[in-house]
Amino acid sequence: MNKEKRHFSEEEKQLSQELLFKSLKLLSLFILLVVIAVVSFMLYDAFGHSMLKSINKNKLTQEQIEARMIAVDQDDDRVENGIHIATGLVYTDDFDLIRGMCTSCHSAKLITQNRATKEGWTEMIRWMQETQGLWDLGSNEKIIVDYLAEHYAPDDIGRRANLEIEEIEWYKLE
Ligand code: HEC
Repeated sequence: MNKEKRHFSEEEKQLSQELLFKSLKLLSLFILLVVIAVVSFMLYDAFGHSMLKSINKNKLTQEQIEARMIAVDQDDDRVENGIHIATGLVYTDDFDLIRGMCTSCHSAKLITQNRATKEGWTEMIRWMQETQGLWDLGSNEKIIVDYLAEHYAPDDIGRRANLEIEEIEWYKLE
């Protein structure tokens, strides 16, 4: 009888020990969570401001791009010597399309300062589509690429072609 009772209480002891162990585990987990929360709050308090500032800095460059865009007077449609003065783009029938599709994210300077073949311009468009959020240009793409490759062709293609013609040595066959 006595023995049995002792055996029972031992089991009970084991059970309560297990319970204690489990609740200790839970408690330490809770403490850990509180510590993490406090530490992250402190970190946010210390660095959050500069973190937000650097995020805003990126936003500012986007705003600066937009400001630069707006700085180009949309109403100034003067054309001199075939150049649209406000954008610097060659003025053709396709000008409005180019201005509409290609100057909403950045200034037209990026275009006028570049030279490329059709392939090169297509590559730049693909790059902007893949990484900069440029939309699908659909059937306008051919018109745009033709315009770009015609008016902003690589200089050295023309130069090399001239040189080749100039450097041919003609001799008469007798
Ligand atoms: C959705 C926005 C967006 C549109 C629309 C857009 N671009 Fe861009 N483009 C960008 C961004 C962003 C860059 C990178 C700007 C930078 O590096 O400062 C860029 C860069 C460029 C560059 C420089 C590439 C280089 O290798 O340096 C050229 C040229 C260019 N764009 C031409 C065009 C042409 C042509 C069009 C019209 C078909 C066009 N862009 C329309 C976003 C756009």
